[in-house]
Amino acid sequence: MTLLVTGGAGFIGSNFVLDWLAQSEEPVVNLDALTYAGNLGNLAALRGDPRHVFVHGDIGDRPLLDRLLAEHRPRAILHFAAESHVDRSIHGPGAFIKTNVEGTFTLLEAARAHWTALDGDAKAAFRFHHVSTDEVYGSLVPGAPAFTETHPYEPNSPYSASKAASDHLVRAWHHTYGLPVLTTNCSNNYGPYHFPEKLIPLMIVNALAGKPLPIYGDGQQVRDWLYVGDHCSAIRAVLARGRVGETYNVGGWNEQANRDIVQRICALLDELRPSAAGPYARLITHVTDRPGHDRRYAIDARKIERELGWRPAETFETGIRKTVRWYLDHADWVATVQSGGYRDWLATNYSAR
Ligand code: NAD
Ligand code: TYD
Repeated sequence: MTLLVTGGAGFIGSNFVLDWLAQSEEPVVNLDALTYAGNLGNLAALRGDPRHVFVHGDIGDRPLLDRLLAEHRPRAILHFAAESHVDRSIHGPGAFIKTNVEGTFTLLEAARAHWTALDGDAKAAFRFHHVSTDEVYGSLVPGAPAFTETHPYEPNSPYSASKAASDHLVRAWHHTYGLPVLTTNCSNNYGPYHFPEKLIPLMIVNALAGKPLPIYGDGQQVRDWLYVGDHCSAIRAVLARGRVGETYNVGGWNEQANRDIVQRICALLDELRPSAAGPYARLITHVTDRPGHDRRYAIDARKIERELGWRPAETFETGIRKTVRWYLDHADWVATVQSGGYRDWLATNYSAR
């Protein structure tokens, strides 16, 4: 038995692969294009581990997909690969359409051909798990009920529109062709290996460097933060016990305004790594808002809790403390990511294999 993971060198994908192989002997084939967001250094702990096969390639490469599926015969595909940053999607939406829409289409077609040719138990057991986001549902006004799985799709950014398109393709491949799909729509994640372009890691690394902490607009936008390890456990639960064709919303019942998140990070850094220059909150600056900025996301996670018995293990307090500590303990990871030097890792570790 084998899993094919796409995007397993990114933030959530690498956390998933590390968690999976810490708990299971089932090998993982990890297909990742190593865009700016992919970092083999995240997977350094698996160096020399025969259960992890890394393949440098693109989900849009159909011949490569066909070869990998024929060679490894995975029992499931876990599809994490995506362009994932809203601000980048505003500056350059093309890559989001290419990977999130066209790439998902190509992966679905390869999966369909593979699954159609299976028989018996292998065909019945096969799963295509699509990892998606709560951003497909659009923005909530204050006080409105949290997103359920039947909330209308109202994506507002090029990123969320491209993820919504991929969700629709996955749904259609199930409805029309019977492909056994599972979809999870998760809220904002945070934790180790989070690329420091996103809010939480950016604030930690900027604060430590004495740089401004740029809050967009009034900072009252609300996100529903979930520790990445809890997202990984939710995916494992859905893969194991989720009903085929169903969507599960994943979230931590933890709505927080951006300003409060940044204040909390500053307070933790004041405690764990006090600065001689004074409290870190002195670095907070308000900058021009993001165009089309969604005001509030909130997940109603009752379906996955009720049907699969999943619950997050971390509260925001335990998760954010672990995360800040992780960044303090991994200054080398931050420095390598910031210098772009992690790209050298590929040549160092894999060129001779
Ligand atoms: P990320 O940007 O950190 O990582 C994406 C990974 O995909 C990178 O390793 C990158 O190299 C790879 N990739 C990109 N294009 C590729 C291509 N064409 N072929 C193969 N690999 C490619 O993203 P993330 O934050 O880890 O998110 C993973 C998934 O989870 C995405 O689908 C995202 O939409 C979804 N998601 C993310 C969050 C969040 O808070 N980060 C929340 C909910 C859902
Ligand atoms: P981000 O981490 O980019 O995730 P998303 O946009 O997918 O929710 O941003 C989280 C929130 O933080 C979002 O409301 C935008 C805001 N934000 C800032 O205020 N300043 C920043 O520098 C960044 C990157 C984000």
